[in-house]
Amino acid sequence: MKTLLELLTEEVQEAFGKCGYDVSYAKVTLSNRPDLCEYQCNGAMAAAKVYRKAPIMIAKDVVEKLQGSTCFASAEAVNPGFINLKVAEDFLADFLNKMAQDGSLGVEKEENPKKIIIDYGGPNVAKPLHVGHLRSAIIGESVKRIMRYKGNQVIGDIHLGDWGYQMGLIITELEKRQPELPYFDDSYEGEYPSEAPFTIGELEEIYPTASSYAKENEDYREKALHATYLLQNGHRGYRAIWQHIMQVSVTDLKKNYKNLNVEFDLWKGEADAQKYIPDMVEMLKDKRFAHYDEGALVVDVQEESDKKEVPPCMILKSDGAALYDTTDLATLMEREELYQPDEVIYVVDKRQELHFVQVFRCAKKTGIVRPQTGLKFLGFGTMNGKDGKPFKTRDGGVMRLENLLREINEEMYKKIMDNRTVTEEEAEKTSRIVGLAAVKYGDLSNQASKDYIFDVDRFTSFEGNTGPYILYTIVRIKSILNKYQESGAVCADMSIRAAEDEFEKSLMLETAKFNDMIDAVYEEIAPHKICAYIYDVANAFNKFYHETKILTEEDEAKKEGYIALLTLTKEVLETCIGLLGFEAPERM
Ligand code: ARG
Repeated sequence: MKTLLELLTEEVQEAFGKCGYDVSYAKVTLSNRPDLCEYQCNGAMAAAKVYRKAPIMIAKDVVEKLQGSTCFASAEAVNPGFINLKVAEDFLADFLNKMAQDGSLGVEKEENPKKIIIDYGGPNVAKPLHVGHLRSAIIGESVKRIMRYKGNQVIGDIHLGDWGYQMGLIITELEKRQPELPYFDDSYEGEYPSEAPFTIGELEEIYPTASSYAKENEDYREKALHATYLLQNGHRGYRAIWQHIMQVSVTDLKKNYKNLNVEFDLWKGEADAQKYIPDMVEMLKDKRFAHYDEGALVVDVQEESDKKEVPPCMILKSDGAALYDTTDLATLMEREELYQPDEVIYVVDKRQELHFVQVFRCAKKTGIVRPQTGLKFLGFGTMNGKDGKPFKTRDGGVMRLENLLREINEEMYKKIMDNRTVTEEEAEKTSRIVGLAAVKYGDLSNQASKDYIFDVDRFTSFEGNTGPYILYTIVRIKSILNKYQESGAVCADMSIRAAEDEFEKSLMLETAKFNDMIDAVYEEIAPHKICAYIYDVANAFNKFYHETKILTEEDEAKKEGYIALLTLTKEVLETCIGLLGFEAPERM
């Protein structure tokens, strides 16, 4: 379905054409003077130069042709040559009714659907999930849903950090604590236990202990590095411990991500890419893409137009060990082999940008990916505390994700209990739903690449540009619709009617922007624009609600029109929050 802007532009194009002006001047945009008009066209100004006429003359010509148009309630030429437009109420109602009937709210699917892999989440196994991973999960999930909504085939991959030094540390610490375990007995040839020798709680304690001990104790550090090396080279007992670590951590991660309403299609990780490394290294050497530099195997990726130095991609360290670059390149090989994606989007901290520039260039240059494979880096900024510094706990430690969510939920719970008389049980459930919306909306309402301040008080507020405010609005609409149905009325076949006042019309105008907004969000991969949009819709609805007797309206037909408009508004808002990755409760 065409967008309202497209329809209005077509109408104005016709008028330009009828006057003998080129239709390319007829572009309609949102008004930047909402006090004067709803839409505007500034084309007369540009056309004036070509036709050597005063812009106001051109605007007047066009406006004359627009009189009697079914699209516009008014079209005015204003000095020096603006065309100010107001949409006809009937036309707007008609547009919304079509939107309500169209199965996808007027949104067109992608003409050439793509296969897209989204690499997001990226937690490191056995290390606690912290707030740094929160942004990737929240933004990536939303991007995944947006791409999918437009009809693409999207695969979300968590890309676990499951192959590093942390594994060697855990193995070393475990051996120190329980040397009698069979994993450490090199002569042991039997089956290893199927049960892990630690719980998630213990694992979470083992890693930080080992990590800080290794910083003070050189021998211990060497041992951990050697254990990492042995693990990566197939040590049987260490592989078995690795399996246990994976199994215990992944179970825990799944629980955490479920609480965040984040769902991955693939639970692959760095370890899965390792088997592609030998062939890749071979190829890079054979085709002379790689060369040795001070013992390390590297691929140059500097380009002439670079203003800054872009260091070479590191393939192997001088001791033969693979690195972060290597793993990401091998992962691209794996993805090409298994999925042949049209596009891979990485949702990662923007401080890793240079790494991805190197990897993308190397992958393209060496043919690891096909020339047409799109590689995109969606870098996000840092989540800061109120002091403007990276988010910390009250005592200065790294904030764990679980604790952060708990803090938000408790705050939400207090507010919900203060506000209403719901049972404690319901308040608790609701506070989890609203708390998640508070966190996600607080994050997504900022442009992803920017840093933002995580402010519990502001995010959990029911007023202002917040998740709870949006949910509150949806719940209010739901409650009106429920009451209407409880009164015995049937909702079938109702249609939206021409607006009778400015509040109704402005709600209709906002709702009508939906498909246009979605296309911009999709083009620019910009979830924050969904937030800005639903905030406008919510404001327009709440003004309408305060100015209008909805359920007590005596004119049945009018009331039905309101109900139809509310039904559509609710659908639009719910679709939007679904794309952001949260949902609304029944009550709050
Ligand atoms: N595990 C990494 C980290 O915590 C993020 C992984 C990002 N994805 C990737 N393909 N490199 O920093």
